[in-house]
Amino acid sequence: MTPPPLATRTRPFIESVIREMTRLAEEHAAINLSQGLPDFDPPESVRAAAIEALRQGANQYSFTWGDPRFRAAIAEKYRRDNGLAVDPEQEVTVTCGVSEGVVAAVLALSDPGDEAIILEPYYENYVPACLMAGLIPRYVSLRPPAYTLDPEELEAAWSPRTRLLLLTNPDNPTGRVFRREELAAIADFCVRRNVIAVVDEIYEYITYGEHRHISLATLPGMAERTVTVSGLGKSYAVTGWRVGWTVAAPSLTALIRKAHDYLTICAPTPFQVAGITALRLPPTYYDQLRADYHRRRAILLEALEATGFPFTPPQGAYYVMAEITPFGFADDWAFATHLVREIGVAVVPGSSFYHRPADGAQTVRFTFAKRESTLREAARRLARLQRR
Ligand SMILES: Cc1ncc(COP(=O)(O)O)c(C=O)c1O
Repeated sequence: MTPPPLATRTRPFIESVIREMTRLAEEHAAINLSQGLPDFDPPESVRAAAIEALRQGANQYSFTWGDPRFRAAIAEKYRRDNGLAVDPEQEVTVTCGVSEGVVAAVLALSDPGDEAIILEPYYENYVPACLMAGLIPRYVSLRPPAYTLDPEELEAAWSPRTRLLLLTNPDNPTGRVFRREELAAIADFCVRRNVIAVVDEIYEYITYGEHRHISLATLPGMAERTVTVSGLGKSYAVTGWRVGWTVAAPSLTALIRKAHDYLTICAPTPFQVAGITALRLPPTYYDQLRADYHRRRAILLEALEATGFPFTPPQGAYYVMAEITPFGFADDWAFATHLVREIGVAVVPGSSFYHRPADGAQTVRFTFAKRESTLREAARRLARLQRR
């Protein structure tokens, strides 16, 4: 029998490296510091709200662009925390996580053959999102140790086919929280070149020290050309609930809603309802969130320093990119394989964040979205790591 012909669309995608590391972590009973998911529970009131929503009958499709009460709570959050006036009727689309929000925005706001600028190192989903839409990715480097954006490099990446700029703020994997001057340079570029920014702000509440997140959409000229994407997953430790949203001007939202409707119909209804409780948590919740992540960050960074990894302390999000040069391994894969098998700690090989793998071949990414006891055990294990 002739086998069915296989399509080529997914051929350029690289199998998720994080999934492979998670598999190896399980095989070797290693501590999994690769995938950015918490090993602790969401707030009790938020979990109780989900149970109550299921009991009260929130079990069918919601409006395709989101439960109206949840959209109202999202608009209220943006007014209160981000300084953004948002119309929940015309500017909010609730999606199945930030992942779907980004894909829906990319599909809705570009045509095949257009170009998208991606800041590198990047969150690995952005490249397949562009390729599925037929977009050509162009890369702009954020270089260690400062990982700052060079406006000249941004300008050099532009072409008449550039439609979108994709960025994450606070950034995964670099831990950057972009300063107002950097955002102003991005805004100047987008306005001058008539480019739409898709900004993934999923880590907006997780920042350290004096670093504070600023929404790009609040900069002059950006409200009409920014898609702000965020969600419940990281702020409330509910990555499995699959609830995110996009906020964009009515003309952009109208297109995003069409893409979203035909992708997934709607996000999970009971978790949208529970999201209202999450978004109405008091400011003390976010102070506590930052304080808790600050302690987790300190445990991991201390362990990395004691072991001899050079790294740049993250300003936000919950990852750190560490250099592996002192340990004498051929590349990040050899190092990560050794670490998971012999030391019992799983990390993400840094090459997976670059379109030219060699650029990340002497780095790995650790997450510290874990209980302090998990991180202390990882620290004990890392102390066994020897230079070759
Ligand atoms: C930058 C970034 N965006 C999006 C996601 C995924 O978001 P969601 O689970 O809401 O789809 C992640 C998960 O690690 C992430 O790091």
